[in-house]
Amino acid sequence: MLLWLLLLLLWGGSLQEDRGYALQVQKDVTVQEGLCVTVPCKFIYPREPYYDRASLYIFWFEHGDSIYDPPVATNHPTRAVKTWTKGRFQLIGDPRANDCSLSIRGARRSDAGAYTFRVERGHVKYTYADSWLTVLVTDLTEKPHIHILQPLESGHPANLTCSVSGSCEGARPLAFSWVGEALNEMDPTTRQSPVLTFTPRPQDHGTNLTCRVKQNDRHTPANLNLKAMGNSSSHSILEGQSLHLQCVALSNPPAELSWFQGPSVRNVSISNSSDLRWPRVSLEDAGRFTCRAKNALGSGSVSLNLFVLYPPRLTEPLCFWEAEVLHCTCSAQAWPVPSLHWWIGDRRVEGNSSNASVTSGSTKSCTNSSLRLQVVLTSVLRLCCEARNDFGNQSVTVLLLPGKSASRAEVALGALGGAGTMALICLCVCLTFFCLMKTHRKQANRNPEGTDDEDPVMGTVTWSPKSVSFGANIFLLDT
Ligand SMILES: *[C@@H]1O[C@H](CO)[C@@H](O)[C@H](O)[C@H]1NC(C)=O
Ligand SMILES: *[C@@H]1O[C@H](CO)[C@@H](O)[C@H](O)[C@H]1NC(C)=O
Ligand SMILES: *[C@@H]1O[C@H](CO)[C@@H](O)[C@H](O)[C@H]1NC(C)=O
Ligand SMILES: *[C@@H]1O[C@H](CO)[C@@H](O)[C@H](O)[C@H]1NC(C)=O
Ligand SMILES: *[C@@H]1O[C@H](CO)[C@@H](O)[C@H](O)[C@H]1NC(C)=O
Ligand SMILES: *[C@@H]1O[C@H](CO)[C@@H](O)[C@H](O)[C@H]1NC(C)=O
Ligand SMILES: *[C@@H]1O[C@H](CO)[C@@H](O)[C@H](O)[C@H]1NC(C)=O
Ligand SMILES: *[C@@H]1O[C@H](CO)[C@@H](O)[C@H](O)[C@H]1NC(C)=O
Ligand SMILES: *[C@@H]1O[C@H](CO)[C@@H](O)[C@H](O)[C@H]1NC(C)=O
Repeated sequence: MLLWLLLLLLWGGSLQEDRGYALQVQKDVTVQEGLCVTVPCKFIYPREPYYDRASLYIFWFEHGDSIYDPPVATNHPTRAVKTWTKGRFQLIGDPRANDCSLSIRGARRSDAGAYTFRVERGHVKYTYADSWLTVLVTDLTEKPHIHILQPLESGHPANLTCSVSGSCEGARPLAFSWVGEALNEMDPTTRQSPVLTFTPRPQDHGTNLTCRVKQNDRHTPANLNLKAMGNSSSHSILEGQSLHLQCVALSNPPAELSWFQGPSVRNVSISNSSDLRWPRVSLEDAGRFTCRAKNALGSGSVSLNLFVLYPPRLTEPLCFWEAEVLHCTCSAQAWPVPSLHWWIGDRRVEGNSSNASVTSGSTKSCTNSSLRLQVVLTSVLRLCCEARNDFGNQSVTVLLLPGKSASRAEVALGALGGAGTMALICLCVCLTFFCLMKTHRKQANRNPEGTDDEDPVMGTVTWSPKSVSFGANIFLLDT
């Protein structure tokens, strides 16, 4: 009541006169978060007799909105109001008595802003654009009051009531809690009510009882979790496994969850639910995924990098002769990045030795390795390139046969049968794939002096079935 009177006194300046239109409302109002406020308001518009048959509609709009946007409050029976003000912003007076008073219950931070008033009746359609109401929302600092109906007597139960002025029906509920030495033995749940029923004991005399009030937990979806992911921002999964990502947001009101592909909430929406599922993860599924949680109070997002683990995939090796030196290049893709090793017979070649040198490099998920071998072939020489990571190994063997040659440069053997063999390996069919290469008899540019003498020539390529092993690194996610 006091507030009301005070507000009436504050009127005046905001009275506007414009062709018979006038609005009396305070310029601004301050409310503590979670509490309620009533803003008295009167409006005048030109009356004409036939208006009496027309319905009178009044509206409060967010300042800056168009008249086609949802209002924050209205008496119009079919106009929907904004969802975030629904039930909280209310017209409390009778519009026919020129009353445009607005009540705001359970004020939220997001209610802060300016609001304009509009009237519609028959041909009268008018927005009072020159006076608007500014709502300020401050922290809840109001101290609670404790009411004790009768004197506290040792051994007699008593009711203590805690209240906050400015709180009101329908507002966001406040959370009450009672603390004090006298209550230490009480069931904690009975201490969470605004009314504390309590039986004092003699030893409680002189101790403090405190009532605490805070905003009931109601928050933006700040607390997002990707279930099964823990809190890490990346996750690795073995190719072919099933994966279930679930986005969990702690929020009140509950948040709507959606998934996006990419580093942030962008244009690629991939799901409008909390869950993303893959029956079998493939390499193409690797990437960044972002989950967004959104409710009326705000939004939050969390993203995760998905890495797909897979065993090495060797591409076709390439070998050629050049000036009595054999060059072979081998490359493999895998995640984690594979290591490549060369074997000559049973001897592993590392770094440089007198007749062989190896250079390797890696980019992203690919490793290349080149072997340069100075060799005079007198018997069959077996070269092996092996790729390996934690999830398996794969190797390719090149057999060098002394004998009648074809062009040395045609030794680019790797091509042969590669793809099919790879497929076999990938299918884990443990058969030795043995492919006899037809030797070529074409002169190579690379080796102009190539002749039909007894140069070493490749004959055979064997894809070893050593193949792929899936180790113990299984990421079990619920499905
Ligand atoms: C305390 O309040 C409860 C319920 O409001 C009532 O049943 C009880 O009688 C009250 N006790 C005292 C001592 O007033
Ligand atoms: C009770 O609270 C007051 C004010 O916080 C404090 O000064 C006083 O020491 C407290 N008394 C006891 C017994 O804790
Ligand atoms: C994730 O972080 C939250 C707080 O940031 C913590 O409460 C929770 O236990 C963490 N979860 C895991 C699985 O580490
Ligand atoms: C969103 O669209 C723009 C252009 O329409 C494009 O450049 C951008 O890459 C897209 N974002 C994502 C994450 O794909
Ligand atoms: C999710 O909903 C938004 C808005 O309703 C829509 O634009 C988008 O295409 C939807 N995404 C999917 C994957 O259905
Ligand atoms: C190995 O030999 C190559 C040339 O054959 C040379 O560039 C490289 O520096 C050598 N590496 C080492 C570790 O000796
Ligand atoms: C691997 O080989 C390919 C083709 O030969 C080449 O383009 C790439 O740069 C090489 N990468 C590295 C890291 O050596
Ligand atoms: C390369 O040289 C080593 C000794 O340095 C020798 O044992 C090996 O047989 C040679 N390999 C070939 C293929 O000639
Ligand atoms: C390569 O994988 C096979 C199959 O799992 C395994 O038996 C073998 O030991 C691996 N080779 C090496 C050198 O680790």
